Amino acid sequence: MSKMYNNKTWTIGKDLEVNRYGYGAMRITGKGIWGEPENENEAIKVLKKAVDMGVNFIDTADSYGPYVSEKLIAKALYPYPKDLVIATKGGLERGGPDQWAPNARPDHLKEALEGSLKRLKLDQIDLYQLHRIDPKVPFDETIGFLKEVQQKGLIKHIGLSEVSIDDIKKAQQQLEIVSVQNKYSLTFREWEPELEYCKDNDIAFIPWNPIIASRLHPVKTIKKMAEKYKVSESQLILKWMFNHAENILLIPGTSSVKHLEENLNSQNIELSEEDFETINESAKEASGVHA
Ligand SMILES: NC(=O)c1ccc[n+]([C@@H]2O[C@H](COP(=O)([O-])OP(=O)(O)OC[C@H]3O[C@@H](n4cnc5c(N)ncnc54)[C@H](OP(=O)(O)O)[C@@H]3O)[C@@H](O)[C@H]2O)c1
Repeated sequence: MSKMYNNKTWTIGKDLEVNRYGYGAMRITGKGIWGEPENENEAIKVLKKAVDMGVNFIDTADSYGPYVSEKLIAKALYPYPKDLVIATKGGLERGGPDQWAPNARPDHLKEALEGSLKRLKLDQIDLYQLHRIDPKVPFDETIGFLKEVQQKGLIKHIGLSEVSIDDIKKAQQQLEIVSVQNKYSLTFREWEPELEYCKDNDIAFIPWNPIIASRLHPVKTIKKMAEKYKVSESQLILKWMFNHAENILLIPGTSSVKHLEENLNSQNIELSEEDFETINESAKEASGVHA
């Protein structure tokens, strides 16, 4: 039997304690994560409701919109509650809807970070994540920039996104990495070794696409189990991930209050150890994880 975790909070970088049920703010933009949302009122309501329901960890990026997600966060929530941690990112450039290109050159990151601080109305970003390693830029240049702005106090902690264990180790030679954000879900577990590495090294693991990635490999057991618990499949998937590792921070994304409530309410599912394990076993097969 694998261990089942129930800790409600995780401390990022030894000093920022957050609830492990957070919110991903990528979906409060237009189609293709481009431009303004169709319904700005609803987007503002989602952000306020998330905080009302106990969320104190929100993930965003300069590239969501671009700029739209960060601006809406400030519009809805500034002045921020004391314990709210807003994690943003830099390192991707947008050419249009659904177009994303890495740019981790220091001059671009500098502009991106300055913009994020301004839009979010902050003097310091609690958690700044490198959105992508840019193969065109020497890693040391990117890391050197992050180190410099951390020393200047513009960012408190540093995270990475879509990275291998080797990438994390390389970065750790020069600075402290407190979070890793990789695509991961119940039935999409290509980064399982990275999750394990993060767990062993006190690094938060923040799965992106937690709901969508599991739709890629649907598993019959999940459907049946969701019926048994009288919850939706998305809810069961989120709760399974929460129970799977103590360092997982959930950031399901949504543009609707209804889905937000559904996602956050999945915390209350009382998943038995036996069912947790059954789900794990059947999902392992679908995801190709045999460990
Ligand atoms: N680091 C990276 O490279 C990276 C990449 C992608 C995303 N992210 C981050 O990760 C967060 C989560 O990923 P994601 O938003 O791409 O994917 P996700 O959380 O797996 O799924 C979001 C999608 O599922 C729908 N949805 C949400 N809750 C639902 C529910 N209860 N029932 C049915 N449909 C539901 C949403 O539509 P509605 O709006 O209609 O609810 C939206 O289309 C993002 O918001 C972003 O902060 C990071």
